[in-house]
Amino acid sequence: MSFLDLAKRRYATKKYNAAKKISVAQIEELKEIIRLSPSSINSQPWKFTFVTDGAVKKELAAQSYMNENSINNVGLLVVFSVMEDIKHFEKRNIAVLPEGWISYYEQMVKSNGDAFTKSWMENQVYLSLGYFLSACISMGLDATPMEGINRKAYQQILPQDGYSPLFAATVGYADINDTVHPTVFPKLRFEPSEIIESI
Ligand SMILES: Cc1cc2nc3c(=O)[nH]c(=O)nc-3n(C[C@H](O)[C@H](O)[C@H](O)COP(=O)(O)O)c2cc1C
Repeated sequence: MSFLDLAKRRYATKKYNAAKKISVAQIEELKEIIRLSPSSINSQPWKFTFVTDGAVKKELAAQSYMNENSINNVGLLVVFSVMEDIKHFEKRNIAVLPEGWISYYEQMVKSNGDAFTKSWMENQVYLSLGYFLSACISMGLDATPMEGINRKAYQQILPQDGYSPLFAATVGYADINDTVHPTVFPKLRFEPSEIIESI
C-alpha cells in the first residue's frame, strides 16, 4: 500500500476492539522502530515506556481524562518522555557528538537559553510521535496520540528517573463500530490551496 493510502487509512482511534490485542512480536518491532527515530543532531532526548501490564495501564487510564476507556480497552500504551536535566543531557547526549554538531547545539540551541533548549528537546520527542504513528499503520495497527494525560500523575505512577512524560499513544485494532473511522467520518483537513504553497 502506498504511503498516501496509509495516510488516508490512519486515524486517531477512539474505540478499540478489546478482544484483538497487539502481539508480543509487534510490540518488539515497534520498540526497535521508535529507537530509530530521527532527531536534530541525533540528540535523542527521550525515553519511551511501553506499558502492557493491565494494573499499571488501568492506573494510568484513570489519569487520562477522555482517553480512559480507550486505554483500558487496548493492549499497548506507550508513554513518550523528555529528559529533564539539561546539564545531564549535554553530558550524556551532546558531548559524545562530532565537534560540528556540538557547535551547532551551542550556537543555535543553548545560546537561546534554558526555556528554548527544553522546548527544542520536546520538539524532538514530538517528531518521534509522527514517526511512530506512521509505523503503526504500516504494520496494520491503529493508534491514538494522546496529549490528554495528567503528566504529573503519570510521572508518579511510572519509574521515570530524570524523564518527564509529555504525551502517550495507544496501539491496537480499532473496533469496527468506531464512529470516527475514516470510512464513516471523512477526515477534516484544510484545502491544499490554504496550507500548501508552490513557488
Ligand atoms: C499531539 C497530539 C495529541 C492528541 N491528543 C489526543 C487525545 O488526548 N485524545 C484523542 O482522542 N485524540 C488526540 N489527538 C488526535 C487528534 O485529535 C487527531 O489527530 C486530529 O483530530 C486529526 O484526526 P485524525 O488523526 O483522525 O486524522 C491528538 C493528536 C496529536 C497529534
